[in-house]
Amino acid sequence: EKGGHRHFMMKEIAEQPTVVGKVLDAYLTPEGDAVALDLEGIDFASIQRLSIVACGTAYYAGLVAKYWFERYARLPVDIDVASEFRYREPPFPEGTLGVFVSQSGETADTLAALRFATGEGIRTLALVNVPESSIAREADVAVQIHAGPEIAVASTKAFTCQLATFAVLVVKAAQARGALDAGGVAELLAALRKLPGLLSHALAVDDAIRTAAEAIAESHDVLFLGRGQMFPLALEGALKLKEISYLHAEGYPSGELKHGPIALVDKATPVVVLAPHDGLFEKTVSNMQEVMARGGRVLLISDARAIAQAGDEVWQAITMPDAPEFIQPVLYAVPAQLLAYHAAVAKGTDVDQPRNLAKSVTVE
Ligand code: M6R
Repeated sequence: EKGGHRHFMMKEIAEQPTVVGKVLDAYLTPEGDAVALDLEGIDFASIQRLSIVACGTAYYAGLVAKYWFERYARLPVDIDVASEFRYREPPFPEGTLGVFVSQSGETADTLAALRFATGEGIRTLALVNVPESSIAREADVAVQIHAGPEIAVASTKAFTCQLATFAVLVVKAAQARGALDAGGVAELLAALRKLPGLLSHALAVDDAIRTAAEAIAESHDVLFLGRGQMFPLALEGALKLKEISYLHAEGYPSGELKHGPIALVDKATPVVVLAPHDGLFEKTVSNMQEVMARGGRVLLISDARAIAQAGDEVWQAITMPDAPEFIQPVLYAVPAQLLAYHAAVAKGTDVDQPRNLAKSVTVE
């Protein structure tokens, strides 16, 4: 049942190239050159803003989507964790589409948030993994993320399938709103088609990550940094590590480092930097130098070009395949998941059933 793996979590991590491929098969044309996802009358051209609501890992998928919708589709996005949203009862500007993200489709706060939005009369779209779930049934339109059953409490393949599904929606929105020309749309689609293959390559970092994870498992506190669309990956990496290895971990936007968290940095506090080469990489290099100057150990997860630029003071570097910028957050989920997995295995914790956690949080 675990497909030859020791844990469901590892099986589910390894399934990602396949299930993300299923998302693309479901929502792109057979040639992959256009979006073929019917939103039953929801037209991005007439939507003024999105309000994305979710919990935990699904929330982080929504946070990546915010960067994408704003950048590629020029569509403003609000995002909230469901437990805040439902009690804050925010007003909705004209033309708001509520977007609810939930693997289980049964998370109590997300469901209550959906009911609030429905009561306010806005249109609602759900991204769910369980088609017959409450959230799928109650939203105006439900889009399946096609991850298949996710057993491990720590969410992995649902996250990358949520991202792949959002990516398709972003292309659809960019096209409908005229935010990208045909060439721009073709470029994003070409990037998406590379995802299954690149995810398979990314899984090859497993050995290198295990070595780093075994060292990290000895520490008490770990910082994760990322900038722009990689910031949510820093949050996700920290959440995964906390959940299954019980190490204290925090994710921050790289630029926030000197506004507080750098005070935590010392020899005993590894800093995981998720930073593929992009227009902002220079700034990330200076963040890493600030860490290293204080004796901090930097684990840099990046591509070959950026690793070369980062210099040899970096404690350990994990070389990821080169990838188009659009899909980098999906790809970098893999090393973040593997790091948590191997740290947990090194610590001997219960990987699939971590203490105090339930797969589906159906009570408030
Ligand atoms: O089923 P949902 O996607 O609504 O669940 C949301 C969170 O409870 C879930 O992502 C949780 O944070 C996971 N344990 C993360 O690994």
